[in-house]
Amino acid sequence: MKKLLLGLMVLAGTSAMATIVGTKHDLSSAAPAGQVKTNTGQVCVFCHTPHNAAAVASQLIPLWNHTTTATATWQMYTNANVAVANLQGTVDASPTGASLACFSCHDGTVAVGAIGNIPNDVASITYTAGGNVNGTGLITGGNTLLGSDLRNDHPIAITYRNDLDTGLVAAASIGAARLFPTNATGNKVQCASCHDVHTNAAGTPFLRASMVGSALCRLCHVK
Ligand code: HEC
Ligand code: HEC
Ligand code: HEC
Ligand code: HEC
Repeated sequence: MKKLLLGLMVLAGTSAMATIVGTKHDLSSAAPAGQVKTNTGQVCVFCHTPHNAAAVASQLIPLWNHTTTATATWQMYTNANVAVANLQGTVDASPTGASLACFSCHDGTVAVGAIGNIPNDVASITYTAGGNVNGTGLITGGNTLLGSDLRNDHPIAITYRNDLDTGLVAAASIGAARLFPTNATGNKVQCASCHDVHTNAAGTPFLRASMVGSALCRLCHVK
C-alpha cells in the first residue's frame, strides 16, 4: 500500500510539472508567490485565445493573443555583426515567428498582460509586481530581459543548413529539439527550438531537453 501510494505520488508529481501551471509563465492570479500576478484566473490567455485571435498574417504562433513588441531596431547574431561567427545559415534581419512572440514580453517594451481578447472574468488586466516584472507589467531587468541586442545570444531566426554545415545533425534527426515550421522541412532555429514555454518539467528554464552533459546542444550539434 505504501509503495502504491509512493508510486501514485511520483506519477502525480511528474504530470503536475509537465504543465505551464505554476511556472514562471503562469501569470494568473494563482501564480506562485514571488512572481508577477494578474487579476485573471486564466493562464493560456496571455498568449492564446480560442476566438478573436490576431489576424492570420500576424499570428506569430497558433491563435496568438498578445500585442507584438514595440522594438524597431535589432542587432542580430550574424557573420556581419559578430567578429567570430562562421554561420552557413541565413539570419533574418530581425526576429521572426515564434521568436518575435517571445519578445512581446522579453524585450521589456510591452506589458505581459497587453492582450487582444480580454478574458471574461475581468474588465481589464491589472498586476501585482513580482520577480522582474513591475506594477505596469513590464519585465524590467534580471536575466529574463533579453533586450534588442542579440549579438551575445545563440543565433535565432536562422535557417538550419545541415547540408552546408556538416557539424549539424540532419534536420529530421534532432529529436526533442524543434525547427520551425517543421523538422521535416528543416527550416529555422527560433527561441522555441530549445525552449518549450509550456513546461519546465526538468526544473530547467523551459528547456526541451536536459542540459546534463549539454544533451540539448548535442541534439543539433555533432560535438
Ligand atoms: C507565454 C506564452 C504562452 C502561454 C501562456 C501558452 N502558450 Fe501555447 N504556445 C506558445 C508558443 C510560443 C507556441 C509555439 C511554439 C511551440 O509550439 O512550442 C505555442 C504553441 C501551442 C500549441 C501548438 C503546439 C503544440 O504544442 O501542440 C498549443 C496546442 C498550445 N500552445 C496550447 C497552450 C495552452 C492550452 C496553454 C495554457 C494552458 C498555453 N498554450 C499557454 C506560447 C504560450
Ligand atoms: C506573455 C508574456 C511572455 C511571453 C510571450 C513569453 N514569456 Fe517567457 N517569461 C515571462 C515572464 C513574466 C517571465 C518571468 C520574468 C521574471 O520575473 O524574471 C518569463 C520567464 C521566462 C524564462 C525563465 C524561466 C525560469 O524558470 O527562470 C524563460 C526561459 C522564458 N521565459 C522563455 C520564453 C520563450 C522562449 C518565449 C517565446 C517562445 C517566451 N518566454 C515568451 C513572460 C513571457
Ligand atoms: C540554442 C538553444 C537556445 C535558444 C535558441 C534560446 N535559448 Fe534561452 N536558454 C537556453 C538554455 C540552455 C538556457 C539555460 C542556461 C543556463 O542553464 O544557464 C536558457 C535560458 C534562458 C532564459 C533564462 C535566463 C537565463 O539566462 O538563464 C531566458 C529568459 C531565455 N533563455 C529566453 C530565450 C529567448 C527569448 C530566446 C530567443 C531569443 C532563447 N532563449 C533562445 C537555450 C536556448
Ligand atoms: C535546434 C538546433 C540547435 C540547438 C538545440 C543548439 N544549436 Fe547551436 N546552432 C544551431 C544552428 C542551426 C546554428 C548555426 C549554424 C550555421 O549556420 O552554420 C548554431 C550555431 C551555434 C554557434 C555559433 C557558431 C558560429 O559559427 O558562430 C554556437 C557556438 C552554438 N550554436 C552553440 C550551441 C550550444 C552551446 C547549444 C546548447 C546550449 C546549442 N548551440 C544548441 C542549432 C542549434
